[in-house]
Amino acid sequence: MRAPLAVAALAFVAGAALAAEEWHWTIPAWLPPPPVPADNPMTEAKVALGRHLFYDARLSLDGTVTCASCHDQAKAFSDGRETAIGIQGAEGRRNAPGLANVAYLPVLTWGNPLITSLEQHALIPMFGTAPVEMGSAGAETAIFDRLSADPFYADAFPLAFPDRPAPDLFTITRAIAAFERTLISANAPYDKFKREGDPAAISDAAKRGENLFFGERLECYHCHGGFNFTDNIVTSRMKMVERGFHNTGLHDPVLPGGDGIAAFTLRPEDIGRFRTPSLRNVALTAPYMHDGSVATLSDVLDNYANAGRFPDTPHKSSLVMGFTLSGTEKADVIAFLQSLTDEEFLTDPRFADPWPDGHPARVNRTMP
Ligand code: HEC
Ligand code: HEC
Repeated sequence: MRAPLAVAALAFVAGAALAAEEWHWTIPAWLPPPPVPADNPMTEAKVALGRHLFYDARLSLDGTVTCASCHDQAKAFSDGRETAIGIQGAEGRRNAPGLANVAYLPVLTWGNPLITSLEQHALIPMFGTAPVEMGSAGAETAIFDRLSADPFYADAFPLAFPDRPAPDLFTITRAIAAFERTLISANAPYDKFKREGDPAAISDAAKRGENLFFGERLECYHCHGGFNFTDNIVTSRMKMVERGFHNTGLHDPVLPGGDGIAAFTLRPEDIGRFRTPSLRNVALTAPYMHDGSVATLSDVLDNYANAGRFPDTPHKSSLVMGFTLSGTEKADVIAFLQSLTDEEFLTDPRFADPWPDGHPARVNRTMP
């Protein structure tokens, strides 16, 4: 199933000393690796460090919240809430998206076209103030000291960053980003059907749903296309990245304000335009949309069938024109979306919490 792993292991042995610094993606052969920034090469040591940081509540001001508090592996790294809740109950206004295949996204978050790297993004949950998530703004030195005092990090930072061995904004964000790049989901039943040619990997209902999803009546694939089911994509083999922001008619036209990318571009036609999310593991990332306002996949389809929640929203995409779908057809599309659930990804021990019970990294956590 994971043939590239065997090849990688061989190369590792053969490569002797050099191999320790080489990184081998354990991804299916059909999938090009994601791009990696020149100033943050992948190494085993860095990924291991990043994983520990991702699950370390000491990155939050009061030691209660980790990245995983809002990005839970069992939910494909989403949190099941409509909108996120940070330390001391601080309320966010956006839904926490899953993190599968974030390495392939050229632009991050629902509606900020300016966040283009995982390194840059990792600062936001830790130090952002609107909304407060981990609440650590102004407490940077205290956080670095906490980490420095931990025996695990005393070894792990120098191993990952021989030239700059201390916890600081540079090393923390780079290690977390390197770990996030490994969160690749490409072994769903649909992949086995589509990429590995196993006709029995998905149900007949899911196959009918696939045809509907990729058909001109529903138009889904125009925005949710490609291996990651989004028109926001970059791989290590692409010269140009693709970005897609659309208004799908969720936005109430009588509401004032410029939500969506208009908040950054200041163009009225960008009001209500959000980045197309990936649909990988979408059965597990409910509730849906930038504001978590759509509870189920059935409700998602009802909205699209209705040409949006607010069909008359100005600047709505011309691809969201509405359609009728029988009960069976709706169940078929949902079966197709469920075939994108990658059990291996949800239970992969390489992505799980590495800290033992009772460790200071987890002892004060108030959220799972
Ligand atoms: C309090 C909940 C919360 C915590 C804690 C949190 N996040 Fe998030 N995360 C969110 C929300 C909400 C969004 C969407 C933000 C937006 O669109 O404005 C998000 C978005 C992201 C994204 C962008 C995903 C995409 O599809 O564009 C990444 C990557 C991410 N978070 C990683 C992290 C990391 C790494 C940490 C820890 C350093 C972390 N998050 C901590 C709630 C959280
Ligand atoms: C015009 C582009 C476009 C088309 C066509 C489109 N979508 Fe979307 N889709 C989006 C965007 C953009 C969002 C996020 C909207 C938001 O949060 O306001 C989204 C969100 C979703 C979500 C929520 C995912 C999550 O993690 O919250 C699902 C599910 C979904 N779409 C499925 C579909 C299906 C099924 C179809 C076909 C019936 C479809 N989409 C057609 C652009 C599109």
